[in-house]
Amino acid sequence: MKVISRSVKDTLNLGKVIARKLKPGDIICLFGNLGSGKTVLTKGIAHGLKLDEKDIISPSFVLLRQYPQAKIPLYHFDLYRLKSSGDILALGYEEYLYSDGATVIEWAERLKGFLPKEYLKIEITIKAEKKRVFKLSAIGKNYARFLL
Ligand SMILES: Nc1ncnc2c1ncn2[C@@H]1O[C@H](COP(=O)(O)OP(=O)(O)O)[C@@H](O)[C@H]1O
Ligand SMILES: [Mg+2]
Repeated sequence: MKVISRSVKDTLNLGKVIARKLKPGDIICLFGNLGSGKTVLTKGIAHGLKLDEKDIISPSFVLLRQYPQAKIPLYHFDLYRLKSSGDILALGYEEYLYSDGATVIEWAERLKGFLPKEYLKIEITIKAEKKRVFKLSAIGKNYARFLL
């Protein structure tokens, strides 16, 4: 499924729509270049989970930020600075994934062999200064509900 965004507001709204469908244990993997809108989308998701979107920052220096106060606990990974995919395990990555929270992963391509088996895949392409295409795919049956 493809969704076109023409503004930051559109992307925040897409995040809110996704948040409404989130269940504990869900994993969302974001793929796309620097500046494509991964963090903006995550802010929209956070807002949908009753967090203040202003509290969400790109975790650049820390690979993981946790928001236990959200409607569903939110784990936000930003793997931009992950040197080697295997380093993710030292963070307790798998315990977060398979917990009662929802996990959003920026730069999921860096996970390589450590990508989860099932997840909502979101590939973002920059089309113009403000235009982005979000391609959503269900990896595993559980995620088909996001495509409706
Ligand atoms: N349609 C759009 N959706 C999201 N961000 C957009 C859009 N149009 C322009 N932008 C800009 O693109 C940048 C996206 O930044 P960010 O979400 O931090 O990217 P990433 O986390 O993918 O590196 C922001 O500066 C934002 O203002
Ligand atoms: Mg980011």
